[in-house]
Amino acid sequence: MKKLFPSYVRVPLIFALVFMALEYFIDSGDKPAFIEYPMVSVFLLVFLFLLVAIEIVVSAVDRVTYSMLTDEQRKQLDEAQQISFMESKFMKNLLHKLSRSKSIEQEADIMLDHDYDGIKELDNVLPPWWVNLFYATIIFGAIYLFRFHVMNEYTQDQEYQKEVELANLEIEKHKMNSPKEEITLEQVTLLTDDASLAKGKEIFNNTCAACHKADGGGVVGPNLTDEYWINGGGIKNVFKLIAEGSKNNPSMVGWAKIIGTNEVQNVASYVLSLQGTKPAGGKAPEGEKWVEPVAETPAATDTTATTK
Ligand code: HEC
Repeated sequence: MKKLFPSYVRVPLIFALVFMALEYFIDSGDKPAFIEYPMVSVFLLVFLFLLVAIEIVVSAVDRVTYSMLTDEQRKQLDEAQQISFMESKFMKNLLHKLSRSKSIEQEADIMLDHDYDGIKELDNVLPPWWVNLFYATIIFGAIYLFRFHVMNEYTQDQEYQKEVELANLEIEKHKMNSPKEEITLEQVTLLTDDASLAKGKEIFNNTCAACHKADGGGVVGPNLTDEYWINGGGIKNVFKLIAEGSKNNPSMVGWAKIIGTNEVQNVASYVLSLQGTKPAGGKAPEGEKWVEPVAETPAATDTTATTK
């Protein structure tokens, strides 16, 4: 019989299987096991070395035995090696055990004497692979019936809920580990939820209040609570200015690199929430009055056109 795989396939294949099994069974967190635990690397190296050594020894023994054979035996061996795996004795036996089929010569034994215009019928046994599979489904069915309809272990609904719970936990974990996505000028929106505004307020008090005053009335920087803006109002302009800084006045630096764009969105939203608060002692308005451009409403659609 021919060898199933040549050694240059066999060695990498076995090694890859062992490697994957180790990675699968050893819990090593984010890093692969062979980096996390040096012992695993050592084991893999020794294993690879042994594999190669065994291959070399086996092929050497093969060659020595071959040279000791008589011509007659060599011929037999060469012939045997020509036969493919599917035609080997082992495979033939296995197939026979699984199917118990009769060879053509034996068909006379199981011939039924039904003859329909020359079409004859054989009384083959049911193939064992099929019969055993059938028994297995019966056993499976009985256990299933007992567990889920007699003992009522859990319902499909409960199973589903449990999986959803687990998936949600995974999502939470993923969110905690992965850095937040950057906010771009196109994406930025005015945040109005309490949590974001509270975060914005905290940032404002810590980083901006020195120049704009905690209430936004303005000291070095302009009043942020009125409708007048030097660099334009609205969330997009305010976000852009806080993120990139002012071109007119270098003391208002760009904050995106320092605190991050998510935080800029929070603080910009907080700044806009101060609109109209009229803090005592606020600076006089600077710049132009900002009028929020009216969002274009889609033209009224012709309803008659869609009725038919
Ligand atoms: C070192 C002082 C200083 C700090 C700190 C500072 N600013 Fe300013 N800010 C200014 C000055 C000065 C201007 C005026 C810029 C101009 O004339 O264009 C300004 C302008 C602004 C404007 C635009 C106002 C307008 O009318 O266009 C906004 C919004 C703003 N700052 C928000 C912030 C926020 C939010 C922070 C904290 C992250 C902050 N600033 C930190 C000095 C500062």
